[in-house]
Amino acid sequence: MSSSQQLTNKELIELARSASDKTYSPYSHFPVGSAVLTVEGRVFTGCNIENASYGGTICAERTAFVKAVSEGYRKFQTVAVVAAKAYECWPCGLCRQFMSEFGVELDVVVEQSGGSLQSMKLKELLPCRFGPDHLAK
Ligand code: THU
Repeated sequence: MSSSQQLTNKELIELARSASDKTYSPYSHFPVGSAVLTVEGRVFTGCNIENASYGGTICAERTAFVKAVSEGYRKFQTVAVVAAKAYECWPCGLCRQFMSEFGVELDVVVEQSGGSLQSMKLKELLPCRFGPDHLAK
């Protein structure tokens, strides 16, 4: 997709939903998908990937971000999150912290019951965060 074609939040939610099909979640049976839109207009998707050592699990949002950052993208506009079995799947605290490394102006979009979307800035979801500025001096 070229940078002139911007995805809508609804389209980003649908990409996140498709990504949840790839989930590896044999322990929780709770599939999650995510899609992050870069400022350049690129989209990276991710699903949750669990591990027999439970702490090794990676959430869908971090999977998407790791894919994007490892491909050279660091500036993000919007991230969508969809859980197959629940509405309003806001990112967990660890994902909020992880994503905030790349900016707190990020729009986070989730789906509500009935299909309408809700959006909040990451800075609203993670106020008073610890970030790169704390380590600058
Ligand atoms: N999970 C995510 O992928 N993203 C979230 O924002 C919430 C939780 C995953 C982690 C785990 O595989 C499953 O959902 C249950 O916690």
